[in-house]
Amino acid sequence: MLEETGHSADGAVEAISGSESAAERAGMLVDPFGREITYLRLSVTDRCDFRCTYCMAENMTFLPKKEVLTLEEMDRLCTAFVDNGVRKVRITGGEPLVRREVMTLFRRLGRHLDTGRLEELTITTNGSQLSRFADELYDCGIRRINVSLDTLDPDRFREITRWGNLNKVLAGIEAALHAGLKVKINTVALKGVNEGELTSLIEWAHGMGMDLTLIETMPMGDIDEDRTAHYLPLSVVRGRLQEQWNLEDIDYQTGGPARYMRVKETGGRIGFITPLTHNFCESCNRVRLTCTGVLYMCLGQSHSADLRAPLRADQSNEMLNAAINEAITRKPKGHDFVIDRRRPQVSVARHMSVTGG
Ligand code: GTP
Ligand code: 5AD
Ligand code: SF4
Repeated sequence: MLEETGHSADGAVEAISGSESAAERAGMLVDPFGREITYLRLSVTDRCDFRCTYCMAENMTFLPKKEVLTLEEMDRLCTAFVDNGVRKVRITGGEPLVRREVMTLFRRLGRHLDTGRLEELTITTNGSQLSRFADELYDCGIRRINVSLDTLDPDRFREITRWGNLNKVLAGIEAALHAGLKVKINTVALKGVNEGELTSLIEWAHGMGMDLTLIETMPMGDIDEDRTAHYLPLSVVRGRLQEQWNLEDIDYQTGGPARYMRVKETGGRIGFITPLTHNFCESCNRVRLTCTGVLYMCLGQSHSADLRAPLRADQSNEMLNAAINEAITRKPKGHDFVIDRRRPQVSVARHMSVTGG
C-alpha cells in the first residue's frame, strides 16, 4: 500500500493500492482505504436490563446462550487484536455489566494496560449496575466510561427505557465519579421526546464535570415504533444551542466518532455523533465483535467474519490472525444509513445491541 492516506481532497475516503505502508509493516491492521484499525468494540452480551424504545422491541429474541463465547475466549480474541496493533478496547453490550463474572475479563485485559500495549480499556454502560462495579472498574485500570442517559425526568426515563429506574442510574454515575472515573454521558436526541430537555441535560452534566455527547438515532433493527417520527438532526440541535450559548470548535479527540465543541458559558464539552447529517466514516478506526465471535467491519453494513471457528480450531492463533487480516480487507467504505418517511425500512437488520454500537 502507498504511504498516503485514503482521503481525497474533499475528505471522502478512497481505496488505495500499492506497496505496503509503514503501519502494515509494523504488523498493524490497515483497511483497503488506508485506515488503521486501532479500536475494538467487544459486546460481551446482547442482553440488557432495559428496553430503550429506539434500540429494542419489548419482546426481543437474543442470541442462544450456548453460542456465546466464554470470557476466556473473549480475552484471547481481544489479545489477538492487541497483537495486531489495536490500542483501545471498549466493552459494550447489550448491557455489559449484566454478563455474569464480567469483571474477570476486565481484570485479565488490564494486563495489557500494565504493559502499555493497550492505551485504553473502557466501557459503555446504561449505568444500572454501576453502583456495584464502579470501584472494581477503576481497580482494573479503567479511567473513563460512557454512560447512556437520555433524560433526567423519572417518568420520561421509564417511557424511554421501558424497564429502567432513573435513581439507580444516577446513583451509579455518582459512584463512578466517586471512584475516580471520568464519565461521559451519551444522549440520543429524540424529537418530541427529550428535545426540550437537552440544554438542561448538558448543564447538569457540565455542572458535574462530565462531557455529554449527542447522538442521532440510527435505523438499526426493528423496534415497536416508527423511528422517523423521533429522528432529530443534530444540525438542528446545534443551531438551537448556538442561539443561547457560545460554542467553539475544538480539536479534542477520544478516538471515537464524536466531534467536540466547547460551551464557553459552562466550560464543558459537547460531542456530536452525526451518522445521518455528517458522515464520519473517512476517519473510521474501529471494528466490532459480537458475543458469539462475529466480527462486523462497519456498524452500518452487514459485512462480517466468524472468528469463533478459527479461535476454537487452533490454539496457536495462526488461523485466527489470518481470519482477522482477511476480514479487514473487506471493511466497507462506510454506512448507508438513511432515515426517510418514504423508505421506512431499517438500513441494517440487526439491532444496535448485537454489537453495542
Ligand atoms: P469515545 O471513546 O468516548 O469517543 O466513545 P465512542 O463514541 O467511540 O463510544 P460509545 O460507545 O460511547 O458510542 C457512542 C455512539 O457512537 C453509539 O451510539 C455508537 O453506536 C456510535 N458509534 C460508535 N462507532 C460508530 C461508527 O463507526 N459508526 C456509527 N454510525 N456510529 C458509531
Ligand atoms: N441509534 C443511535 N444510538 C443508539 N443507541 C442504541 N441504539 C441506538 C440507535 N438505534 C445508543 C445507546 C448507547 C449507545 C451504545 O448507542 O443509547 O448510548
Ligand atoms: Fe439496553 Fe443500551 Fe439498548 Fe437501552 S440502548 S436497551 S440500555 S442496549
